[in-house]
Amino acid sequence: MNHKKLFPMFFLLAGGIVLILSACTSQSGLTGNPVRGGQLYDKWWVVIGVDAPTGDQSLWKTQSTNTRNGADTWRCKECHGWDYKGKDGAYGSGSHFTGFVGVINASGKKPTELLAILKGSTSPDHNFSKVMDEQALTDLALFLNQGLTDDAVIVNNDKSPVNGNTGAGAVVFSLCATCHGPQGTAINFGNESGPEYLGTIAEENPWEFLHKARFGQPGVMIMPTGFTMNRADQEYADLLAYVQTLPVESPVTEGGRLYDKWWAAIGVDAPSGNQPLWATQSTNTRSGADTWRCKECHGWDYKGMDGVYGSGSHRTGFPGVMAAATMNTAEVTAWLTGGKNADHDFSPYLNEAQINMLAAFIQRGVADRSSYIAADGTVNGDAARGETNYTAVCIRCHGVDGKTINFGDADKPEYVGTVAADNPWEAFHKVSFGQPGQNMPAGLNFGWSLQDIADLAAYLQTLPTK
Ligand code: HEC
Ligand code: HEC
Ligand code: HEC
Ligand code: HEC
Repeated sequence: MNHKKLFPMFFLLAGGIVLILSACTSQSGLTGNPVRGGQLYDKWWVVIGVDAPTGDQSLWKTQSTNTRNGADTWRCKECHGWDYKGKDGAYGSGSHFTGFVGVINASGKKPTELLAILKGSTSPDHNFSKVMDEQALTDLALFLNQGLTDDAVIVNNDKSPVNGNTGAGAVVFSLCATCHGPQGTAINFGNESGPEYLGTIAEENPWEFLHKARFGQPGVMIMPTGFTMNRADQEYADLLAYVQTLPVESPVTEGGRLYDKWWAAIGVDAPSGNQPLWATQSTNTRSGADTWRCKECHGWDYKGMDGVYGSGSHRTGFPGVMAAATMNTAEVTAWLTGGKNADHDFSPYLNEAQINMLAAFIQRGVADRSSYIAADGTVNGDAARGETNYTAVCIRCHGVDGKTINFGDADKPEYVGTVAADNPWEAFHKVSFGQPGQNMPAGLNFGWSLQDIADLAAYLQTLPTK
């Protein structure tokens, strides 16, 4: 699998275009891109496309209050803050406290002087020219000179926006909704151990939210940047106020990803040995981690032995979970925590929040798909309609032909088209709920109906399978 390498390639290309468009010359004669500088300030190695630095930045040892180590200690933001105020701002207390100065007061300095500071003119330990080239340092200097705002005019110390208007913010947000969904929950930046949506960031770290709204996300050059659009402080305050009203959880889609492969969704090692109930059947000869996936016993169609897994190598004879959709929460929870059958106890592995996500999925995410997917696997959908959503959402990772990411290997490749052809129920599930442990969006959180998802799945079935 080499998709990790393909993303930077794509973004580098897109990044190059943005660079040309927004390159500018400052009064001091330095030529560069302050927006790229803002992303370098966030996490420079992702922007440059190199490995994360190892060991601690040499100034790190001059403090002991912030106990992070390694790559984090090399981020400008870790020492100087998302609000650019260092010890005089949000990082003046708490686990990020270092006692280091901010950079906001340096914004009046000439870009050439700022460039010199980044090359160690004030302290040899503050020399970043060994890890970044001249252009990157120049972009940083231009960002420091042109990009810094005192967030106090936008957000209060208690994280509430200064005079933010949610109605006006909703209008600004419509631009974000195309990728983040109308509720900001289409992409989970965290995982099912600690879900993180736009609403989460706006609420917990409004300064980080503002920085990213201005300068974008490192490595994601497609995200629009408020700095380039010359957004006014009031627009940011409105946007922040609105996004703070958005949900910080999405239990149904979170539960859908746990149902798929719970250990990947929460970022832990796969369980070893067989699930205890596995011994009660002998027709499905898989062993180990696979036997712990909800889907392996209950099916991608949620019908267990009454559905697709009623025959073939996946047959176990176990029931589906469709009937459980009408159970109350206490009863579903009892099923998941061994209260109904001691061998069906997932509570040693999943915490209460995760059990609740699964219960929400069983109650609200599980539904019969047979009106969309025929017994022979043909999807009953409008492929032309589906193509629109594929182009808007999927292309950036999976490519025009769906072959950018290979889920199989070189000998037996498996692409989006392959999954849709061989297992449309799986494709339907993943498009609805997202891919466990990946930042792949959940279609349901774009507000897509089951028919919209069927249309997309019909389009996926037109893509090459090898
Ligand atoms: C490990 C912590 C650390 C990191 C990482 C760090 N700095 Fe600094 N920075 C400091 C300290 C401490 C000072 C003050 C002492 C000095 O000037 O060397 C400083 C000073 C500065 C100043 C001068 C501030 C003033 O008011 O004169 C600027 C500008 C600056 N840093 C920018 C950056 C940028 C941009 C990055 C990312 C490439 C960065 N720093 C990364 C610790 C850090
Ligand atoms: C063209 C698609 C697109 C648009 C439009 C878009 N974003 Fe993003 N955004 C992304 C992607 C992709 C990521 C990165 C997701 C990841 O790294 O997991 C992201 C990440 C973010 C993050 C950082 C999350 C983190 O990792 O901490 C914030 C904050 C954010 N976006 C805010 C916004 C805001 C505010 C808007 C509207 C002004 C917006 N985005 C518009 C695609 C987009
Ligand atoms: C090893 C196979 C296996 C795995 C893995 C498994 N289950 Fe089950 N599940 C069963 C069996 C067998 C039953 C019926 C047991 C009984 O009747 O005592 C059942 C029953 C259920 C029921 C009650 C169904 C009803 O209508 O009464 C629900 C809900 C359920 N499982 C959800 C899940 C979820 C969610 C997961 C993933 C965390 C999961 N199961 C993982 C085998 C499995
Ligand atoms: C942010 C990038 C990203 C976006 C956008 C994205 N995906 Fe994915 N997708 C992935 C990754 C990464 C994987 C997992 C690859 C792996 O596990 O090897 C994946 C896996 C899948 C799989 C399952 C493969 C398997 O068998 O496990 C399907 C099906 C799929 N994506 C379809 C889609 C569709 C349809 C869309 C648009 C609605 C979409 N993806 C959007 C990144 C993305």
